[in-house]
Amino acid sequence: MKSVTAIAHPNIAFIKYWGNRDPVLRIPSNGSISMNLGGLFTRTQVRFDPSLPKDILFLNGQPETGVAYERVRRHLERIRQLAGIRERAEVVSLNNFPMGTGIASSASAFASLTLAASVAAGLNLDECQLSRLARQGSGSACRSIPGGFVEWQAGEGDLDSFAYSLAPAEHWALADCIAIISQEHKSTGSTEGHALADTSPLQPARLARVPAHLELCRQAIRERDFDKLARVVEMDSNLMHAVIMTSTPPLIYWQPATLAVMNAVHVWRGEGIPACFTVDAGPNVHVICEAWAAEEIEKRLRAIPGVSQVLRAAVGGPAYLEQEAGSH
Ligand code: DP6
Repeated sequence: MKSVTAIAHPNIAFIKYWGNRDPVLRIPSNGSISMNLGGLFTRTQVRFDPSLPKDILFLNGQPETGVAYERVRRHLERIRQLAGIRERAEVVSLNNFPMGTGIASSASAFASLTLAASVAAGLNLDECQLSRLARQGSGSACRSIPGGFVEWQAGEGDLDSFAYSLAPAEHWALADCIAIISQEHKSTGSTEGHALADTSPLQPARLARVPAHLELCRQAIRERDFDKLARVVEMDSNLMHAVIMTSTPPLIYWQPATLAVMNAVHVWRGEGIPACFTVDAGPNVHVICEAWAAEEIEKRLRAIPGVSQVLRAAVGGPAYLEQEAGSH
């Protein structure tokens, strides 16, 4: 059978997904909004082959047999079921961003895997079906299927929990300067974190705020209002970390340099630089800014002790098949 290659970008959530109503189907406790990260991507090649005794996964050049392999195998199983095929697959997945930096690759990995494997299996799924399927591999992956600025509507079940584009990448020239903070130990992954969300007394308060946050964020994107975006993005990130810090067991993802960057970003905004921070399930700080300010912000971030490197991303398009390269 032919080999199919797909490319997808990671995304950064402006309004965070934290906690699941159904952890098996990954039906989230709340809706979320993100921006795809153009320039960063995962490229995944899939080939179903009747002669293979089992699925094979190469991740960044290394054969995988552990947890990552099992998660990919389960995803291939879903796709085989949908397509009505039995052949095992060879999956070769590469990230163009450095490993071990805590840049979450599960969104771009499962979005590109979903697109490549479904086409290789002979399926012809639309964007909504691809998003629903990617969601079952990794929740945030459903937001890496559509392009630009994306909302994942929580929904109540598999059929209505999917992501769609609020605006294309060209709508607003934003950038993400990602301050990579050196880390002694690997963070607890988001899958484990989601399972703890409901143990925090603050999760109900967070969930009650989400509809208002989603609406403010939609408005900010529609109106290209950076100040409005900055306020809601920082509030939403802080609220998620308040839940994380007050779960049982509590987790703290922030390192001293995480706080140093957060404080610096506030000072810069006071000086008129359009920048705000958001932090995922790790110590890195995503500094979202208007694209024209990215170079200056990157320079300032590099000067903060504890920041080991800075990656820069523009707003990214949707997941696509490699044959279509150039059209995005
Ligand atoms: C903090 O999508 O990585 O980045 O569904 O278990 O794969 P799984 O979790 P994942 O969770 C993302 C959590 C977050 C916030 C967000 O991206 O919305």
